[in-house]
Amino acid sequence: PPLTATINGAEVILSNKETLLDAALRAHIDVPFSCRVGGCGTCKCKLLRGSVKALTEFGYILSEAELDQGYILACQSVPRTNIDVEVGTNTYPVKRVTGTIIDQQRLTPAITAIRVQLDDALVFKPGQYADLSLPEQGYMQRSYSFASAPNPDATLDFFVRKVPGGKFSSFVGDNTVLGMTVTVDGPKGDFWLRDADAPLVMIAAGSGLAPILAMLEDAIGCKRPARLLFGARTEQDLYALERIHRIAREWNAPFDFLPTLSNEAPDSGWKGLRGRVTALIDGLPLIGAHAYVCGPPAMVDATQAQLIQSGVEKASVFSDRFLTAA
Ligand code: FES
Repeated sequence: PPLTATINGAEVILSNKETLLDAALRAHIDVPFSCRVGGCGTCKCKLLRGSVKALTEFGYILSEAELDQGYILACQSVPRTNIDVEVGTNTYPVKRVTGTIIDQQRLTPAITAIRVQLDDALVFKPGQYADLSLPEQGYMQRSYSFASAPNPDATLDFFVRKVPGGKFSSFVGDNTVLGMTVTVDGPKGDFWLRDADAPLVMIAAGSGLAPILAMLEDAIGCKRPARLLFGARTEQDLYALERIHRIAREWNAPFDFLPTLSNEAPDSGWKGLRGRVTALIDGLPLIGAHAYVCGPPAMVDATQAQLIQSGVEKASVFSDRFLTAA
């Protein structure tokens, strides 16, 4: 029987040796493309199931992290089996909007929250990020995830974690930035909640909680059982607990919040979980779950490996490697 490609849920029967892009275009499925020869990356999509033959090496265009997450170039992929792919057409155009910082709050010794009032609305999916810069300070552009869902008053929240040597984050961490102008370039990234009924396991470390909070607040009302694993070093590094408790109260299905501390003093009086998030995953029933992971690269890698070992399918793990790091 002929092979099929399922592209964003729509099934196409493949002709012999046809590329995924040709098949999609023939079936009038909207896949973005430009060069058609494997040189621009516009046709990047995520292989969820099956395997393809690469006509040119994807590694010239795609990063190692992307290859790892199953990204392929549609114009250079000839399916070898029935395949299932996701094409990121359902995102919003990137634009530059300026705004003013109207609130600044220290959440933990290392993390400062800022709220930006935009001059113009910006549409994005919770989970995505933007590049921020401070033109009055000579720019210092840095990427930060949106820390809340889009809202009608055109304000945005970001969590800025102070990183040694990070100019932007040190500036925001050490100075009053209220009233300053910011430029916001976004939205970017493909970290957002996929439509599905699968139970959710959300795993965040440090300021990686930002996109996870945005996704969860936006998803209140859905009927998917959810778990939130939040890793921090010590109790004073836990934050946004009121927001998390509100999500848990308003969630329409079981919601489990599991904060765990990796570096809390043994005699501190902390009665909760200890250790890294990866150790927590081990004991959880996760088969069939969709996992969303955000934190520093080493944490994301270790978590991904542990999730797969715990029975989560590779294609059901979505991650964001701490674009918020500097
Ligand atoms: Fe340019 Fe596929 S369209 S890489």
